[in-house]
Amino acid sequence: MKSVYLPIVVAFGSSTVYSAPSSTAAWVAPGPNDVRAPCPMLNTLANHGFLPHDGKGITVNKTISALGTALNIDQPLSEELFNFALTTNPTPNSTYFDLDHLSRHNILEHDGSLSRQDSYFGPADVFNEAVFNQTKSYWTGDTITIQMAANARVARLMTSNLTNPEYSLSDLGSAFSIGETAAYIGILGDKKSGTVPKSWVEYLFVNERLPYDLGFAKPKETFVADDLSDMMVEIVDAQHFPQSPGKVSKRSAARCPFH
Ligand code: HEM
Ligand SMILES: [Mg+2]
Repeated sequence: MKSVYLPIVVAFGSSTVYSAPSSTAAWVAPGPNDVRAPCPMLNTLANHGFLPHDGKGITVNKTISALGTALNIDQPLSEELFNFALTTNPTPNSTYFDLDHLSRHNILEHDGSLSRQDSYFGPADVFNEAVFNQTKSYWTGDTITIQMAANARVARLMTSNLTNPEYSLSDLGSAFSIGETAAYIGILGDKKSGTVPKSWVEYLFVNERLPYDLGFAKPKETFVADDLSDMMVEIVDAQHFPQSPGKVSKRSAARCPFH
């Protein structure tokens, strides 16, 4: 991976891959004792049973297996993401994480999310309709483009910055924010054209379920760390363009806080 945005790579030795359900596993809503994350995709994978349905005890092998089986994400990228997740487990030297560990504010969970409120305003792990409505207002066609996705991301960060007196965004939080936008385009959609059907993305966020019924299928081509980095660069590059009619001067682009 071009480790510009996600610099931490920890290599694991080879190990037995956990056996997860087939790529169209049944979907079951979370029960009262199941934990979930601020990540719509990990919640989705738990709902389908690719990850443990209770959201607990997720090891590196379970992560590799789930991301590979459901989404054709390769092992190194899965391990890299797992290692980030591990930093949120409050118990030192753990070898697993639970989905609710990911909600701890300002480790990976950050302000300005696309479908969750900032933790200053209340729980930042669950879907928030008002927040998501703002995001959706920037997805102005049936197909979400990189430009639309970049606009939505910047708008959410700006809104948080303007309304949340405790707004903050670390470098890692910023990288995750860019990476999450890159991920819903490149992993759910088409990494080559940088587009994804809007209906698929909305379905995922709202239902925390893979949009098989709308035509989604596990990508044939493996998604690797470079794919994510490339898409992240495109997202950031799109911020050079005006988000509303009018010109952005080189001078103001140079001051852009997201570069
Ligand atoms: C082990 C793998 C993963 C980890 C540890 C992880 C972690 C996280 C965390 C902590 C957040 C919350 C950030 C925030 O908005 O405050 C998040 C959000 C998000 N994740 Fe994941 N994630 C993983 C895999 C994926 C994958 C494979 C996708 C593919 C589409 C994905 C898509 C997203 C999206 C779109 C959001 C933004 C949600 C929003 O802004 O409301 N994630 N993820
Ligand atoms: Mg957040």
